[in-house]
Amino acid sequence: MANHVVRDLGIPTAEFAVVGDEADLAALIAEARPRRSRRGSRAPLDHSHAERAEAAEGDAERQSGVEIRNRQSGIGNRLPLAYPLFVKPVAEGTGKGITRGSKVSSPRRLAAACRAVWRRFRQPALVETYLPGREFTVGVLGTGPKARAIGTLEIVLRKGAEAHAYSYENKEDCERRVDYVLVKDALAKQAEELAVAVWRGLGCRDAGRVDFRADAAGRPRFLEVNPLAGLHPEHSDLPILCTQVGIPYVSLIGQIVESACERLPRRGRAR
Ligand SMILES: Nc1ncnc2c1ncn2[C@@H]1O[C@H](COP(=O)(O)OP(=O)(O)O)[C@@H](O)[C@H]1O
Ligand SMILES: [Mg+2]
Repeated sequence: MANHVVRDLGIPTAEFAVVGDEADLAALIAEARPRRSRRGSRAPLDHSHAERAEAAEGDAERQSGVEIRNRQSGIGNRLPLAYPLFVKPVAEGTGKGITRGSKVSSPRRLAAACRAVWRRFRQPALVETYLPGREFTVGVLGTGPKARAIGTLEIVLRKGAEAHAYSYENKEDCERRVDYVLVKDALAKQAEELAVAVWRGLGCRDAGRVDFRADAAGRPRFLEVNPLAGLHPEHSDLPILCTQVGIPYVSLIGQIVESACERLPRRGRAR
């Protein structure tokens, strides 16, 4: 799962757990707790990467995100998750499995959301701390050192949209429910730097998108990478972004092909 690798690259993610069966679920429910500090005041649990690095050694493992897959994984009391949480299939795309029930604030809803993912998608549920802030998708073109961010869209849900998330239904009906706003502010620039680091770090090629959402403190955190981003000219996020930054659709496709061609052996050199 990309979250582990991305976190190892030093990119902030949400706190997360992978929940594969009822035993995992029971353990997660026992550990997930309201957002309160030990002193009892309300405080966000999330920490920036730098803060996390400074965390006491004994705390380091607790902060690092724990993947639980089965009864043998011995999660003990290390899970750092706090409500509200967000539940999604571990390996889907295009908002599949993301609904108004994905954001959960109680053990009952957490259990219902995990079971819905297992039943419908026959795969583990990825449970993350809910990120309440601005959402960005960054377009990236190129490979390795040539990879560059071409711009950032903020995903802004309109009034009639399904609340809380860029869900399957919101994506399907995006023309009526979503505004895609080209943004260039400091947070967008930060997301772009992180996106290129993710892209290079994971070895992604040619063209795609990296999604971020800000945490309660306003810091962008990695949601997912889309190494095979949709290319519908009017409906897919990457072409929508390209149109807004002045890259015509044919040029986008041309740049993808050119980037891929750089991996072909050069004529004359191959012999
Ligand atoms: N931890 C989270 N906190 C808040 N919203 C989230 C979280 N994870 C996902 N979302 C919402 O769900 C949407 C889809 O999730 P994402 O991980 O990008 O999967 P995909 O787009 O492949 O379906 C995001 O665009 C975002 O709106
Ligand atoms: Mg996404």
